[in-house]
Amino acid sequence: MACILKRKTIVVIGFAVAFLVVIIARLTNEVNFPLMLSCFGQSSVQWMPFSYTQKRHLRAHYGYLNVKNQEPLQLECDLCAIISNSGQMTEQKVGSEIDQASCIWRMNNAPTKGYEEDVGKRTTIRVVSHTSVPLLLKNADYFFKETNSTIYVIWGPFRNMRKDGSGIVYNMLKKTVDSYPEAKIYVTTEKRMSYCDEIFKKETGKDRIQSGSYLSTGWFTLILAMDACYRIHVYGMINDTYCKSEGFRKVPYHYYEPGRSECDEYFLHENAPYGGHRFITEKKVFAEWSKKHTITFTHPNWTLS
Ligand SMILES: *[C@@H]1O[C@H](CO)[C@@H](O)[C@H](O)[C@H]1NC(C)=O
Ligand SMILES: *[C@@H]1O[C@H](CO)[C@@H](O)[C@H](O)[C@H]1NC(C)=O
Ligand SMILES: *[C@@H]1O[C@H](CO)[C@@H](O)[C@H](O)[C@H]1NC(C)=O
Repeated sequence: MACILKRKTIVVIGFAVAFLVVIIARLTNEVNFPLMLSCFGQSSVQWMPFSYTQKRHLRAHYGYLNVKNQEPLQLECDLCAIISNSGQMTEQKVGSEIDQASCIWRMNNAPTKGYEEDVGKRTTIRVVSHTSVPLLLKNADYFFKETNSTIYVIWGPFRNMRKDGSGIVYNMLKKTVDSYPEAKIYVTTEKRMSYCDEIFKKETGKDRIQSGSYLSTGWFTLILAMDACYRIHVYGMINDTYCKSEGFRKVPYHYYEPGRSECDEYFLHENAPYGGHRFITEKKVFAEWSKKHTITFTHPNWTLS
């Protein structure tokens, strides 16, 4: 009898120990989770608890659907570098720092070739305006074949993004994935577009449509990045008072093309009665967001409390 009891005790203790080991493994996993991750598991090989593979479903973003198979975008990153298209990027020489981030975000057709020293060479994801899609298609072999590991997220109004054959931008994208089956192209859902509008209204008290303005690609980029990244570092974006500050740097609007100066462009848009981007208003909102999320802005630096 005593012998049987002892055996039972040993079995019970055995189970308890095994249970504890499992709990500890899971806790370790939980704690290390953000640090271990980089985009799409391109992280260096390290020891991982056995439950890791099961838990490692990347964060799904249901507002962004793959053009080929309607699957939601899967993206989860530790540190994200977001590179502005601004002329501020010229001569910054932060390319190698940028390339060390877990995920690197660019906007529209902003090039890396020839600008690597300042803006880096890797691109994890591009957020692209519907109006910039033709610019990508002009260079389709580069964007969809040579750099086929890049994810493309296209935002646009429903009329252009309809899937019933009358959405002109959607049709272009559909053709693109037919020609480039490897291309990872996602479109923003109508619901997600409304959500981004609602956020603008909530943050500024202004109705975007009534105020006759368009959201910028930067707006859509930051909203998605806040969902996908644990930390964000924005390079080359100016703040809301930059253009009125002493000795501001007069640079072109884009680092990769000559043209109107950045500040002239900002004022023009901010004051346009119709069809402009409210870049300056948006920057004020970004400063607010950076209080709730881990976002830093450098080159030029923003001083945020
Ligand atoms: C994807 O890109 C790699 C690297 O540039 C290239 O070797 C490969 O052929 C591309 N795949 C397709 C299907 O285009
Ligand atoms: C900007 O901030 C970084 C650290 O965040 C600092 O190293 C650098 O000196 C600052 N640059 C200027 C011009 O203040
Ligand atoms: C905005 O930028 C200007 C010029 O770089 C700087 O002097 C100012 O401190 C910045 N303001 C904030 C709130 O970051």
